[in-house]
Amino acid sequence: MAAYKLVLIRHGESSWNQENRFCGWFDADLSETGVKEAKRGGQALKDDGAPPGREHMDGGWQTCRIDAFIRGCTATAFEGPQRKPVYADFEFDICYTSVLKRATRTLWLVLDSIDQMWVPVHRTWRLNERHYGGLTGLNKAETAAKHGEAQVKIWRRSFDIPPPQMGPDHDYYTIISKDRRYADLTEDQLPSCESLKDTIARALPFWNEEIAPQIKKGKRVLIAAHGNSLRGIVKHLEGMSDEAIMELNLPTGIPILYELDKNLKPLKAMQFLGDEETVRKAMEAVAAQGKAKK
Ligand code: 3PG
Repeated sequence: MAAYKLVLIRHGESSWNQENRFCGWFDADLSETGVKEAKRGGQALKDDGAPPGREHMDGGWQTCRIDAFIRGCTATAFEGPQRKPVYADFEFDICYTSVLKRATRTLWLVLDSIDQMWVPVHRTWRLNERHYGGLTGLNKAETAAKHGEAQVKIWRRSFDIPPPQMGPDHDYYTIISKDRRYADLTEDQLPSCESLKDTIARALPFWNEEIAPQIKKGKRVLIAAHGNSLRGIVKHLEGMSDEAIMELNLPTGIPILYELDKNLKPLKAMQFLGDEETVRKAMEAVAAQGKAKK
């Protein structure tokens, strides 16, 4: 039996996800689709969590297991036909998010859906998306056409190779680096680009010092953050190798449930609170963002 439960959610689609642009620390808001995704994510945490228009199956809509995606999406790897709903009536005691509005707004919409807007929220730059450096603002497919899909995959998914730096002449340098929300960061803390390894290095102290102790106190935690800051937390929780994490693409707006033992080790693979087709398509769409258009 799980000692603790933890829910993670990547923000809904942002306007820059929609335009397929590297976003990083640029403060893009949710697109209309992203707002819908966040609301649907909130619905999934409610007692009656079936997405609009979908019938319940055997008492609950499907929960998908991440290992199915990592090992190649076989239908049999999903929970069996007698699956039980795991989404019923989630309650939270404390929430964490980044200082970027796409994550904050997602959290608001989720909390509104489950009527828990009063729950305390802590914001930190340490849960921000990775800083995409000089790639910020560029279209991912055009970048793949110019530099090759293999190079874009290295920039997007390698563990420790950062994208090019963002220099003072970059279009988004001032709007990001001089933003007053980062005024308290030291020179060393304010990145000009980040690999996943760098992202983990600044997110993990917050996990270890703030989030993990709250979970161990029995607080029910919800984290609304970003594709790569959450990949960092997932890598840490699951003890995933630097190679395995390269293949993980987190979908937007779909809550992820972890059941943890008393040492915060997952008792089983992460479970997506969404139907398997939606989750699979969303993960494939994220992976495909770095492909050049034919
Ligand atoms: C971004 O910052 O562009 C995305 O939110 C995450 O991008 P990625 O999937 O290309 O790492």
